[in-house]
Amino acid sequence: MKHWRIDDVRWDQFDAARLDPSLVAIVKAAAMVERNGTDYGTYLKRVFHDDPAFQAAADNWSGEEVQHGDALGRWAMLADPAWDYQAAFRRYKEGYHLPLLDAEASVRGSRTGELIARCIVESGTSSYYSALADATDEPVLKDICRLIAADEFRHFKLFYDHMKRYLGREKIGLARRLVIALWRVGESEDDELAYAFHCGNDDPGVPYDHKRCIAGYMSRAMSAYRYRHLERGIGMILKAVGLPPRGRFSGLMVRLAWQFMQTQRRRFSRAAALA
Ligand SMILES: [Fe+2]
Ligand SMILES: [Fe+2]
Repeated sequence: MKHWRIDDVRWDQFDAARLDPSLVAIVKAAAMVERNGTDYGTYLKRVFHDDPAFQAAADNWSGEEVQHGDALGRWAMLADPAWDYQAAFRRYKEGYHLPLLDAEASVRGSRTGELIARCIVESGTSSYYSALADATDEPVLKDICRLIAADEFRHFKLFYDHMKRYLGREKIGLARRLVIALWRVGESEDDELAYAFHCGNDDPGVPYDHKRCIAGYMSRAMSAYRYRHLERGIGMILKAVGLPPRGRFSGLMVRLAWQFMQTQRRRFSRAAALA
């Protein structure tokens, strides 16, 4: 059961005068990564092959992720009528393959680890769409991002609840859980987003350049974040690894993460400007 449908979005409220080209570029990329949720769903169902309750949840989850892609893709075609979401996604599928597509067991070493990695992703997406909803003045994008962010918060809870169940059996230590979380955070600079930025924004003749594309994506995405968005995301990450999401330690982590994000944002902006 989905919590909303694409037709629930008030598409007729679209206001081209309130567009920010920088947000249009990252929405095009995000649409493709979201649309690719079916591949991840297939992988999750293989990893949890003897857990029908989780498999059903994973099916429902990937259906929601695909809907995120379709809503963002439809919006990007309103924002840029020359852009073709389906064609861009075909190009993405041809050139990018999830590195774990053939894995039989979780690439994180355990089911608990897999679910922690999923929690990290949902912490990122929920804070990201909350940031985009606040950053845009375009009413339809605001609407879509709020709907998507609400899904992403629910996805976090879904994976978190299953993670607690597996943690009781697998007993993965705190140090290992932290490593998995940091490992997954670091992966955000891999090809998944960078290649989506390429397919969404470069003309077909332009060769893919990871450095240029990740800089193009991250410089724009990080600019949308405000302190409160990062604060909530970090709190969720801490909760996923089993540390207190609020308090002095969490406050320190948020301050450090904010400084790190600003350094990264400046680094990516310089690289994007050079490109
Ligand atoms: Fe999503
Ligand atoms: Fe999600």
